[in-house]
Amino acid sequence: MWFLTVLYALLFYIATAILVVGTGHRIYLFIRAPAPLKIPTTPAPTTRVGVVGRMFQEVVFFKSLFRATKWTWLFGWLFHFALLLVVLRHLRYFTEPVWGWVALIQPFGIYAGFAMLVGLGGLWARRVLVDRVRYITAPSDHLMLALLVGIAGTGLLMKYVSHTDIVALKAFVLGLLYFDWHPLPADPLLLLHLLLVVVLMLVFPFSKLIHAPGMFFAPTRYQVDNPRERRHLADWAARLESQGR
Ligand code: HEM
Repeated sequence: MWFLTVLYALLFYIATAILVVGTGHRIYLFIRAPAPLKIPTTPAPTTRVGVVGRMFQEVVFFKSLFRATKWTWLFGWLFHFALLLVVLRHLRYFTEPVWGWVALIQPFGIYAGFAMLVGLGGLWARRVLVDRVRYITAPSDHLMLALLVGIAGTGLLMKYVSHTDIVALKAFVLGLLYFDWHPLPADPLLLLHLLLVVVLMLVFPFSKLIHAPGMFFAPTRYQVDNPRERRHLADWAARLESQGR
């Protein structure tokens, strides 16, 4: 029991460090990437406020994906929205006392587990059945989908088939947060669920999943369409110009 507790505690600390530092580093690279040209995807907003509004519609409703492919939008949006609910539902393992609104969304969170699987199933089927998508699909695309299906699958199995000791698990999770370790229940499904979560945290910064924060750093999305009103000058170009070169 203690062996597993120490092993998983260390795994979670290492995975958290790599997730935070790795994602931070990727964001730093996104910020540093030169954007020498004005390339907002038109029709694009002509003001900053407009850009914020457009970004909001992208992030919350996946608007451009909706315009592009209805099926991908349907399954993609379903998966992401369900994932959000599932993650919010999980906050009950990390907080004591559990916040009121987290208690309130618990029932929806359970349905979200199934919705997440349906969304992932649709996205995976698309990679196998649609010729032009299959052609550009790499093994890592399948791996990411398998990982997420594995996490959702083991979670639902725990919920409906073979329960784990939630109270003991919560003590373990809070123990990690407050550096006061408590034993981790040694149920195979829970151990697998958590191991897959650790793998997800480890691969996140290095995989396509980084598109989540990356979305906010795409020039095609964050740029204001005002090239006639204001001259666009990248930082490095402005520096060269000020040196008279
Ligand atoms: C340290 C992090 C995590 C812990 C401690 C944890 C723990 C658990 C537990 C104990 C259950 C069973 C719930 C019950 O029996 O009522 C569960 C279910 C589930 N988990 Fe996780 N999990 C974690 C991370 C994740 C992540 C990152 C995802 C998604 C990517 C996920 C997806 C699910 C799903 C879909 C279910 C089934 C639906 C539900 O009960 O909410 N879990 N998880």
